Amino acid sequence: MKILMVCLGNICRSPMAEGILKSKLPGNFEVDSAGIADYHVNEKPDKRAIKTCKKHNIDISHQKGRQFTPSDFDQFDRIYVMDHANYSDVVFKARKEVDKKKVKLILSEAPEPTKDSIPDPYYGDIEDFEKVFQQLDKICTVIAEKLIKDIEVG
Ligand code: 4NP
Repeated sequence: MKILMVCLGNICRSPMAEGILKSKLPGNFEVDSAGIADYHVNEKPDKRAIKTCKKHNIDISHQKGRQFTPSDFDQFDRIYVMDHANYSDVVFKARKEVDKKKVKLILSEAPEPTKDSIPDPYYGDIEDFEKVFQQLDKICTVIAEKLIKDIEVG
């Protein structure tokens, strides 16, 4: 089972989501992340994202930015996006209906599903990164439980 996290720049939200979800899943799951834009390809995550995750014992410093490509629809079983703009941008690249069905707004997985977004902390400060971490940590706990159950059921 392969899961892809997508945000705009692939240096703040999706690298954090990748690290957090990975920390909650056994090794038979693969988690990766990508960005809609190509601004930060090959760059490490934002220093504030690395620092915030490190504080919670998650190391994301080895990650490298990459851009989302339509071939990701073939590689991944589920694609979680952080906000509505990401959703439109990813769905726009879908080649067929099955591609579209893989894409979900990450907070739609909450026990009481919402259409809320994970706010972009890029222009914010370290506290905004901590807030994003807490939101992602909560939702990734729910997602990990679901994924593990889905795999057991088969
Ligand atoms: P992310 O945040 O989508 O959570 O990685 C951003 C990072 C960089 C930019 C925008 C959003 N940027 O415009 O460079």
